[in-house]
Amino acid sequence: MLPYSKKVIEHFKHPRNVGEIKDADAVAMEGSPACGDMLKISLKVNEKTHVITDIKFESFGCASNIATASILTEIVKGRTIEEAEKISWKQAAEELGGLPPVKMHCAVLAVDALRSAIEQWKEKHGLVDKKPTTPDVLLRKLRNVLNPLTGASIVRMQLLVNFDVADGVITIDLDLTPDHKFAAHISGEIHEKLDHLWDVKEVRVNFVGEPES
Ligand code: FES
Repeated sequence: MLPYSKKVIEHFKHPRNVGEIKDADAVAMEGSPACGDMLKISLKVNEKTHVITDIKFESFGCASNIATASILTEIVKGRTIEEAEKISWKQAAEELGGLPPVKMHCAVLAVDALRSAIEQWKEKHGLVDKKPTTPDVLLRKLRNVLNPLTGASIVRMQLLVNFDVADGVITIDLDLTPDHKFAAHISGEIHEKLDHLWDVKEVRVNFVGEPES
């Protein structure tokens, strides 16, 4: 077994703030390029003070990821988003008493997911530089939309047939039939990631998959 600190094991066995906030102000899912695991973070933020009043996480990762996400939620609850986004994965790992080197990317995933949720909140509140939504930006956001059946990104699963953005209209074609049991779920996730972008007027999700014969 890898040499885990007592604190890692304690947070893994009794993770804090697990779940999803139902009326969250921002929800972000990030995937680790190193291992393909995923982490979802939801936030409640006070609009006036920018203080994180609630935070929850759901990890589809390993013990180190669960432990880092758990301690990160404890660290940032009650802090402002400006303070929270400065916390590095090294600080989170140090708070846990260290992580084995091969597990550092699990802490990176936890911090990335938190920063992504904060970025989404800031986008919704007009607090980020208004960069245009290019196909690259679109692809980065779509990488965080998951097929709930497999927990893998729709990009990685090759469900994304086509995507484009022109005159504020985003068009996305998916290799699923409209009556696929996760079509509505995936469409909802896509709208959640894209509808609020400042230069986007409309998001069209088309299901272009052939029915199985
Ligand atoms: Fe994937 Fe730890 S191995 S999150």
